This record gives sequence, structure tokens and C-alpha cells, in this order.
Amino acid sequence: MELEQIRVELKSKMKASRYLHSIGVEEVSHDLALIYNYDSDKAVLAGILHDCAKFLTDEELLMECKKYQLPVTEIEGRCPFLLHAKVGAAFAQYIYGVEDKDILNAITYHTTGRPAMSLLEKIVFLADYIEPGRKPLPRIQKIREAAYMNLDLAVYMTLDNVLKYLMNTNREVDCMAESALLYYKELLE
Ligand SMILES: [Fe+2]
Ligand SMILES: [Fe+2]
Repeated sequence: MELEQIRVELKSKMKASRYLHSIGVEEVSHDLALIYNYDSDKAVLAGILHDCAKFLTDEELLMECKKYQLPVTEIEGRCPFLLHAKVGAAFAQYIYGVEDKDILNAITYHTTGRPAMSLLEKIVFLADYIEPGRKPLPRIQKIREAAYMNLDLAVYMTLDNVLKYLMNTNREVDCMAESALLYYKELLE
């Protein structure tokens, strides 16, 4: 599907604030791709589509996992909103016609990250956190600055922020995010 058509589709499905967030992630992904020498067309596509399944309810997300035969981990069973990432990748592939594995992985891992992310995975993971429409978060300005100078450091700072926030608000932490944090911590040491 053409980019413009994807934008129209998403705009009709999403509430306005989420659509604006998606456009923000698209734009930041584009800029980061230029800085780090990645194909900006691919970055734009991954950015606009990253939350394309986020309008579904928990029940609907679980149903889509059955339909597309996507494995549901224990924590995803308890916190089905996490599934919007992998269901989003399935939608990107089967509804929006994206075949590129790197784009699909960037959508799949945009919430938790994972160890040894590809350049595009890091770009989308970060763009999701720092796009200009985000509510002011602690350390966000520092992360924004780091994003344009040291991508791995910015990814580490984001993971650290996200995990601290989850723990401080007594929420469950996906073990994929934990292993990603450890990986980037060791990488930077
Ligand atoms: Fe998301
Ligand atoms: Fe998002």
C-alpha cells in the first residue's frame, strides 16, 4: 500500500491523538534515519505503522493472535496491550503489504526493545519515546539530545527510564525489556 493511503487508513481508524503520535514517530524516525544513514523510506513506513494495532481492545488483540498464530507469552496474557506490537507487525504485513523483515521487526520490538537491535529497531524504539507530542517525561530532554549523538546510549537511557517507571508504578516488566537493558548497559561499559 502507498504511504499516503496508509496515512488515510490509519487516520480513519485511530483516535486523533494516536494518529498525531504516529505522525510524530514517523517524522522522528525519518530524521534519525538521515543522521545514521538508514533508508529513510523504510524508517518512515515503520514509524507511521508502529502502533497500527493499538486501537484494538485486549480481547481483539488476543483474537488476532489466534488468527495470525502469534505466540502469546505469559506476561502478554496478563497484559494484552503489549500484543499491539506483534499484532501491529502482522497487520503491517498482511493488511498494509509490508514485506521487509527489518520493518516488521521494528514494529514487533517497539515497546520492549530487545538485545542487539538492528539500526531501524533502535530508531523506531527511540522515536516512539521522544517524538515531540509526548507528554514531558523525566530525562526526556537528555534522551532527545543523546538520540542525535549516540544511539545506543539513548536506547539505554530510554530502557532505563521505562523500566524504572514500570517498577515505581508497580507494573510488570517484560523480560525482553530487562534483557535489552542489560545488553545495552554492558555494551556501553
Ligand atoms: Fe506502541
Ligand atoms: Fe507508539
